Amino acid sequence: MRLNATPLYTPDQIQARVEALAGEIRRDYAGRDLVVLAVLKGALFFTADLVRAMAREVEVDCVRARSYAGTASTGDVRFTLLPEIPIAGRHVLVVEDILDTGRTATALLARLGEERPASITVCTLLDKPTRRVVPIEADYVGFTIPDHFVVGYGLDHDERHRELPGLWTLAPERDE
Ligand code: XMP
Ligand code: MG
Repeated sequence: MRLNATPLYTPDQIQARVEALAGEIRRDYAGRDLVVLAVLKGALFFTADLVRAMAREVEVDCVRARSYAGTASTGDVRFTLLPEIPIAGRHVLVVEDILDTGRTATALLARLGEERPASITVCTLLDKPTRRVVPIEADYVGFTIPDHFVVGYGLDHDERHRELPGLWTLAPERDE
């Protein structure tokens, strides 16, 4: 599949949003211990930029969820990696690449809740509210977008395009 000719968001636009979100999070968690959990692999680059822009001490760990094949959600969420650091009694910020149906984030919050953290919030780079199947809202949203499949800045289509510094939509398939 090809990419559309112009990016949905340029690297500069992404960095400006990341810095604004990091400022909000820094203010909201001022004086409190914070654990940041990156949801692999999509949120890898976003998390790296976000925690550096926060300019405060954080502990970082990763979780990994499997729920997707190609562009169609299966609705079946499994965790293949959970945090190694203890989160009981601590403030946890989950960093997602995209909230789509909401199934992954909902299942993840339920699973992490079993560890009895002091609080859990969700920061997502992208939000597609029109696709929601499970009612969940992120506490911090980078960009709210219509229902287009997006790649770049960590997001993939069948493992391609994660390395792109901007965010791009896929062009519709054409018969040639
Ligand atoms: P749910 O439906 O559980 O899905 O909220 C979240 C996961 O689905 C993947 N996803 C996408 N990945 N571009 C992507 O690269 C997209 O437009 C897209 N929409 C959903 C993604 O892995 C996300 O964590
Ligand atoms: Mg993916």
